[in-house]
Amino acid sequence: MGLRKIVEQGDDCLTRVCRPVTDFNARLHTLLDDMTETLQEAGGAGLAAPQVGVLRRACIVMDEATEEYMELINPEIMDQNGEQVGPEGCLSIPGKWGLVTRPAWVRVRAQDRDGNWFEVEGDGLTARCFCHELEHLDGHMYTEHIDRFLTDEELEEYMGEDEDT
Ligand code: NI
Repeated sequence: MGLRKIVEQGDDCLTRVCRPVTDFNARLHTLLDDMTETLQEAGGAGLAAPQVGVLRRACIVMDEATEEYMELINPEIMDQNGEQVGPEGCLSIPGKWGLVTRPAWVRVRAQDRDGNWFEVEGDGLTARCFCHELEHLDGHMYTEHIDRFLTDEELEEYMGEDEDT
């Protein structure tokens, strides 16, 4: 286990389309362990492999209800419903926040670290985080959905319900 460096906006890794994970081996397991440790250390809600410079389709998402970290390999959104508007941040854009509209609920299909397919669903922050992290895997960031960043005053209004993803 070890901490990895989180790259920031402007780094080429954040604009590339990541390749599928094909080898469910010890190297992948180390990457996932490191990503979870890095995310925990940063106090965020989600982290995608390209954010630590690895252009593969893998991410970690925190389940808002249980506060457990989920490992999602080759994830896809299968279904979604409703709409929510809320503040969103990203560990690759430290200290900034923007209001982003996301589905209220999403269902995701993914593989676990051993390659087994499973489905998981979430609402609230978990749904927001699924969407945010999956976008990273296609080289997109939440800033593409906003006109401007929130001011400190606006952010204060949302304090307590926001997380870095
Ligand atoms: Ni992010």
